Amino acid sequence: MKKYNVCIVGGGSTYTLGFLKSFARLQEEFPLAKLVLFDIDEKRQEPIGKYGDIMFAERYPELDFSYTTDPEKAYTGMDFVFMQMRSGGLKMRQADEHIPLSMGMIGQETCGPGGMAYGMRSCVDMIKAVHEIRKYAPEAWILNYSNPAAIVAEALRREFPDDTRLLNICDQPENVVRSTSRLLGCDWENLDPVYFGLNHYGWFTHIYDKTTGEDLLPKVRQIVKEKGFLPQDAEQRDQSWLDTYGFVQTMLEDFPDYLPNTYDGYYLYPEYKVSHLNPEFTRADEVMAGREKRVFKECDEIIAAGKLGDKFDHISDAHAEMMIKVAEAIAFNTNGRFILIVENKGAICNMQDDAMVEVVCELGINGPRPMRVGPIPQFYLGLLVQQVSSEKLLVDAFFEGSYQKALMAFTLNRLVNDAKKARKVLDALIEANKGYWPELK
Ligand code: G6P
Ligand code: MN
Repeated sequence: MKKYNVCIVGGGSTYTLGFLKSFARLQEEFPLAKLVLFDIDEKRQEPIGKYGDIMFAERYPELDFSYTTDPEKAYTGMDFVFMQMRSGGLKMRQADEHIPLSMGMIGQETCGPGGMAYGMRSCVDMIKAVHEIRKYAPEAWILNYSNPAAIVAEALRREFPDDTRLLNICDQPENVVRSTSRLLGCDWENLDPVYFGLNHYGWFTHIYDKTTGEDLLPKVRQIVKEKGFLPQDAEQRDQSWLDTYGFVQTMLEDFPDYLPNTYDGYYLYPEYKVSHLNPEFTRADEVMAGREKRVFKECDEIIAAGKLGDKFDHISDAHAEMMIKVAEAIAFNTNGRFILIVENKGAICNMQDDAMVEVVCELGINGPRPMRVGPIPQFYLGLLVQQVSSEKLLVDAFFEGSYQKALMAFTLNRLVNDAKKARKVLDALIEANKGYWPELK
């Protein structure tokens, strides 16, 4: 069986440990010859790299594992490059969330003005990184799940129009499917969903039982009404995530047609959401106080002990597992179904062809084959056309260096929606992002 070479860009991420554990656990299913971590932040990546050295020596001794800050070493000979960079780090995530909230607008990592600020930073770094990857690994599959995926996908579509080995992916639709299976008491892989939207802005129109073909959506609606909604891995989640999932109940009461993605709450209830977010302590603060500390503490403990021993945690996380399954689908040409971000080209037939939409695709060695959704109802179409216009204008602003286009993008975003507010928050974000954004004139 062929063994694959994989690089993870963003080796210092708090998600990387989950990947390392999952690669070890799935070594028979998806065998690796070489695994390289790459990060521009040497200090941050080092403890994770050392953890990897210790873990793989015990659990995967034949694996050639390394970590580096040199792109040539990282990318040469790779079959797959997993991209999970966070441009500007968690400190800038904090700014993305705090600045809009201090002005009474949603402050969120990927939605609204914060997401647009992050989008500008990610466009700079992602385009640079993909050019570097193509220099050293022209044939590698690039699996991108760096955020904000909608904006990044649009920018990459324009910069690399002929690159057919570049896939943008988000785990949230699958997380919602997994959560639904917990509610129904079934295996999530026995659910066959139909989904449409943009990244972090979509709905499930059907959730079929794979065996019987029954649409379980009415049942899901009833259970959510009675019992609420929980993430599949609720026991490992912070309170803010439990609240986010719980809010699905409210959304389904007001808009019962489809099961929403959790992110829809920001767009449908911006005022309520703003009033329930703390501008001084947002999700970025929660991550820095929680997951980030936990991950680096785990590394320090293992490094100090010099061994993993029975501390090895066999539970791999859903996020990493999904990304590895995506690579498997390509490597083994399985044509398995995944919800992916692809150029519309008629999949949602009443939306523009060049929108980057999120729909169910069959995935194999020749890339994704989107499954047709048909026309979507006016309400959803209105929401999505407004959002895709905002995202496209932001990417115009990025490539043209245009302040005017950025102002339009912000004004058109449902979470801003007013030109004076747009200018105010845009100017504050330009100031906070000096050195990260291209100059806008
Ligand atoms: C979900 C989304 C990702 C996002 C993540 C943030 O998984 O799909 O796009 O990055 O949530 O989670 P965090 O725990 O960092 O707030
Ligand atoms: Mn996502």
